[in-house]
Amino acid sequence: MSGRVKVGVLISGRGSNLQALIDACAEPDFPAEIACVISNVSDVEGLRRAARAGIPAHTVAHGTFAGRESFDMAMDTILRRANVAIVCLAGFMRVLSDRFVEDWLGRLINIHPSLLPAFKGLDVHRRVVESGARISGCTVHFVVPELDSGPIIAQAALPVLPADTEDALAARTLLAEHTLYPLALKLLAENRVRLDNGRAMFGQIGDAKGLLFNPPLR
Ligand code: GRF
Repeated sequence: MSGRVKVGVLISGRGSNLQALIDACAEPDFPAEIACVISNVSDVEGLRRAARAGIPAHTVAHGTFAGRESFDMAMDTILRRANVAIVCLAGFMRVLSDRFVEDWLGRLINIHPSLLPAFKGLDVHRRVVESGARISGCTVHFVVPELDSGPIIAQAALPVLPADTEDALAARTLLAEHTLYPLALKLLAENRVRLDNGRAMFGQIGDAKGLLFNPPLR
């Protein structure tokens, strides 16, 4: 029997971060395993990635529910049936109800493609390039009811290059996301970070090491 922590991943599309988590979970010493994937959109690449990895994958189409609460409840039922302990949002494009967020508080994390608290919301890379900022990055954070505002677990910082387009910055950021998300999940699965009184608390100073990194340019 595996003693690994069961994770549910919520997606809406391409699923490249899901793939990074799948690949990390394939390592024998990784402390978590993906027990189910849920997409609110059918026929997306992320669902195919789950199928290729042999992970149970579900489409829960938000449009077929009367409201946000019942949609979230349907996902909650699947997650609990799969004995999930941690939920990772990976490009999940729906706002979750406060009830769902409160129920999973401390066990629900998200990846966002900016150095939060800067550039919350959508269209991040276009806004970063337009802003003239010289540094951007990505963030893994605990999810709280307010969008993109939860306590930060881990961040990677990246330069914004003078010639960067929105797409070039997005591609460079995505590579960093694929390293950062498994690192943050590992920490949470090993109980080395927890949400405590509105802050991300690390077990030991060393547990935060390597979580604030600045990948070299390729
Ligand atoms: C990523 O950039 C992630 O930070 C954001 O949505 C995008 C999802 O990409 N939340 P993918 O579906 O994981 O490839």
